Amino acid sequence: MKEINFITQNNAKVAELRAKAKQFELTINHISAPYPELQADTLEDVVRYGLAYCQKKFPAPFIIEDSGLFVDTLHGFPGPFSSYVHRTVGNRGLVKLVGEGVPARFESIIGSCYHDFRLFRGQVEGRIVRSRGRSGFGFDPIFEHEGRTFGEMMIDEKNAISHRSEAAELFLKWASTVI
Ligand code: IMP
Repeated sequence: MKEINFITQNNAKVAELRAKAKQFELTINHISAPYPELQADTLEDVVRYGLAYCQKKFPAPFIIEDSGLFVDTLHGFPGPFSSYVHRTVGNRGLVKLVGEGVPARFESIIGSCYHDFRLFRGQVEGRIVRSRGRSGFGFDPIFEHEGRTFGEMMIDEKNAISHRSEAAELFLKWASTVI
């Protein structure tokens, strides 16, 4: 089976991509290594910077992924600053800051480095709620989509609708044709 090298330190993201890649008869090879996350205004800029950095340190081909939670009433905040917000105020702090029931969306960008750099984007709409469920990671328990939080979903259920799954589907379709 053909392998995709995924550079990330997030095991939960690897598990989600592994489940997705199976559908395409591809496997994920986890490269657990850090790379700097540029503090930029868009996820695309963060990913392009990450790709350029990793290209100097790791042999191609590989992929990276960056995601964020965007709240329209806060002009998209925390967006590319999601890690910082999660690290500092946490889920409870974010619910307090944003308010319960407020619409939000997750976005994911997968960046691939094969012959050149390519970006694949996915998103999912939902709303911020008080924490429910223990599955997943990060903001999963406070992000509700059609009545259930991501924290209440198994990987395959989250993968049926998630931002990362949409980006992964586009990447994996493309990868199936070129590798
Ligand atoms: P990262 O920079 O892509 O790792 O993610 C930014 C922040 O958003 C981190 O705090 C993650 O925990 C959180 N995050 C990213 N993707 C997801 C997701 O699918 N579910 C819940 N939280 C997420």
